[in-house]
Amino acid sequence: MEAKLRIQMADGLQFSRVAWGFWRWTEWGITVDDLAALIPQVLERGITTIDHADGYAEGTAEEAFGAALAKNPSLRDRMQLITKCTLVYPWSGSRVKYYDTSEEYILRQVETSLRKLQTDHIDLLLLHRPDPLMDPESTARAFDKLHASGKVGHFGVSNYKPLDFDMLASYCDQPLITNQVEVSVMQHENFDDRTIQHALTKRIHPIVWSPLAGGRIFTGTDEVSVRVRDELERVRAEIGAERIDDVAFAWLFTHPVGFVPITGSCELEYVERPLQALKYTLTKEQWFAIWSAQTGRRVP
Ligand SMILES: NC(=O)c1ccc[n+]([C@@H]2O[C@H](COP(=O)([O-])OP(=O)(O)OC[C@H]3O[C@@H](n4cnc5c(N)ncnc54)[C@H](OP(=O)(O)O)[C@@H]3O)[C@@H](O)[C@H]2O)c1
Repeated sequence: MEAKLRIQMADGLQFSRVAWGFWRWTEWGITVDDLAALIPQVLERGITTIDHADGYAEGTAEEAFGAALAKNPSLRDRMQLITKCTLVYPWSGSRVKYYDTSEEYILRQVETSLRKLQTDHIDLLLLHRPDPLMDPESTARAFDKLHASGKVGHFGVSNYKPLDFDMLASYCDQPLITNQVEVSVMQHENFDDRTIQHALTKRIHPIVWSPLAGGRIFTGTDEVSVRVRDELERVRAEIGAERIDDVAFAWLFTHPVGFVPITGSCELEYVERPLQALKYTLTKEQWFAIWSAQTGRRVP
């Protein structure tokens, strides 16, 4: 079991098989002291990879995490920190939301993230979304400088399509070690457009956001949600799992690409829940039954 709790993302970089994400920091409604108490408990359960972005909770998620970490700085060495940048938000003063993947902007944002997170390095920096105005030479220079200074260990992207990924990679000396994308029993877009197959081609493990479709697998009342929930329930009974979220995570873990799902809750019970699912491998019949429940039709 222990070996299954870790995954090799790149030379010199292991992640936990499940990551913990801070997008919903404001929704959680907990204090920095609560968070400081929670972090060691999550780490003890073997979840050591933490997902941030400069814009989560209008920039306050990184700040809160840094303040919690400052109460016990020795924990830093037991975790891998991911953060993202390149989205410029109106709340930061711009007239419209836009992307900035320039060297200057990335360097500036990383300095801000380091300060807020109260750390001297980020283990993995992701570019949050593909940028139609990208100058990839400029982006690649930022990566080189950040790597040379030791401020960022590894680089990757998020929500990139195969052509965007390959274009940027072709300019970079630093390898792109992952693509963080949305995948779940309810969200197949990245299969349909071959982003997952591209990850297999590149031998990279995608990090997966909203692995429970943002909670829709439990609460969705639309036709697709109901159909998928019924099928998850059927498979849950077949494999003897306790809950349908175990099946939704098992559906991800069964895929050979090696998905690393990010849990989005502050309830310890939910954060560690996906670890339960590691013990199940769905049969092809079960995997496709869930697939077809989402699409509403049999595969051709
Ligand atoms: N790269 C990107 O563009 C991008 C975009 C979105 C998100 N992300 C990352 O992905 C992370 C996860 O996304 P997400 O929060 O949408 O994930 P999610 O796990 O699909 O959804 C989380 C929601 O589901 C509920 N939930 C989780 N586990 C549950 C369980 N076992 N039983 C009942 N309810 C449960 C949570 O409720 P409670 O809040 O009540 O616990 C929460 O409202 C984010 O924190 C962020 O780090 C990245």
